[in-house]
Amino acid sequence: MSRHSPCRWMLAGALLGSLGLSCTPPEEPFPNQDELEVLQSLHTPSALPPKDPTNKYGDNPAAAALGLRLFNDPGLSSCGTVSCKSCHDGEGRSVDTAVAQGCDGKFTGRNPPTVLNAGYSTWFMWDGRADRLWNQALLPLLSPLEMNSNAGLLRTRLSEGYAEEYRALFGKRPSEETDDNQLLAHFGKAIAAYERTLNRHDAPFDQDVRRFLAAAEAGKAEQDPAYLGLKTFVRKGQCSACHKGPMLSDDQFHNIGVKDLGEGQRGVAVAATPMLDWPFNSAGPYSDAPGGLESARLQRLRSDLNEKASELEGAYKTPTLRNVQLTAPYMHTGEVKTLEDVIELYDKGGEPVGNYAGVVSVSIKPLELTAEEKKALLELLESMTGAGK
Ligand code: HEC
Ligand code: HEC
Repeated sequence: MSRHSPCRWMLAGALLGSLGLSCTPPEEPFPNQDELEVLQSLHTPSALPPKDPTNKYGDNPAAAALGLRLFNDPGLSSCGTVSCKSCHDGEGRSVDTAVAQGCDGKFTGRNPPTVLNAGYSTWFMWDGRADRLWNQALLPLLSPLEMNSNAGLLRTRLSEGYAEEYRALFGKRPSEETDDNQLLAHFGKAIAAYERTLNRHDAPFDQDVRRFLAAAEAGKAEQDPAYLGLKTFVRKGQCSACHKGPMLSDDQFHNIGVKDLGEGQRGVAVAATPMLDWPFNSAGPYSDAPGGLESARLQRLRSDLNEKASELEGAYKTPTLRNVQLTAPYMHTGEVKTLEDVIELYDKGGEPVGNYAGVVSVSIKPLELTAEEKKALLELLESMTGAGK
């Protein structure tokens, strides 16, 4: 029974009242032990992303320097005008429209996410159709809607502008790299080495959580300025059911009922199968650690596709909330314009059934947040954006 519900048992109420007790038990203090553990998981990730064994160049500074130049080079696109930076700049911003424009006036099907802290993730794209940062980079390079390139164009451009750097790293000149797939994989690994340096995760939020935890330990949680925001995030809003851990993401796929009647609507349920059979996946011949953990991870997804088919229908990757102010508009469709609109969407428990494929996750339901709770949640989301690198 919540704090505000009326006494159902008037008699018991009167009896308790006569004993000086209220008939509605006071709400459990926030945070309880489980909530405390969630809060402890939220702040201050390790300074560098975990190693990626599938990319042996991942932490190589020369690879990162090459990757930076490639990231910014529109000469890699068939139209000569589109680089990675066109849609994601290295400062974490993405385009401010719902979808982005690539070569020949074509538009992407989805909203570009931030590349900041991408090295902490293990699934990429909203629907998980890449399983490592280096193989992700091949998708926009080759996509007719984005850079519309191919291995031949890549070889020419690398030979013109980067032959020495390429040879120093990979032992051959681009012109001598006769396996197109190997050339593409090397391109991706250099780009990923650069992206792995784009880490920004010291936001006001982290200081607030640290201070709040200290206050909670001293029994003064309720007096802390972050109390209502964190309580709404963790308890009433259930946000931390999915937005948890240092990146504020469980790196998993969920259906939250975002309006989508477009082609992408089935999310990971359709994207995972081709990825599992992709020669560039992390268990394939271009991975630097194809066995063991990587193939187990992919195997798990393969069995989830059968065993949890209904959960994965219309499910998308939980995005990080770090630096979320830099990437409006929101969601895979980019149709949710502001963080206020995001809160409204969750408050109503997602869009009405019929506006998306599949069934929403159990934690998505009408929240009945008060105006005060919405405001505190908004401030909390805003505090997750860091100021510098
Ligand atoms: C025309 C715009 C455009 C270009 C050019 C582009 N991207 Fe993207 N990027 C997107 C969109 C849109 C998505 C989301 C696509 C999806 O999930 O279907 C995305 C997703 C990503 C992601 C996944 C992030 C995550 O958390 O899942 C990374 C990383 C990324 N892009 C890096 C790159 C790199 C590297 C390049 C250049 C080789 C590049 N992008 C070129 C628009 C673009
Ligand atoms: C069941 C898991 C789950 C829960 C619970 C959840 N989220 Fe999400 N969140 C997601 C997923 C998945 C997406 C991407 C959905 C899509 O695009 O279809 C998302 C997207 C977002 C975005 C957009 C970020 C971007 O870059 O576009 C914000 C902001 C956000 N959630 C905040 C919240 C808040 C605040 C709460 C609590 C009120 C919450 N989430 C609860 C899984 C969840």
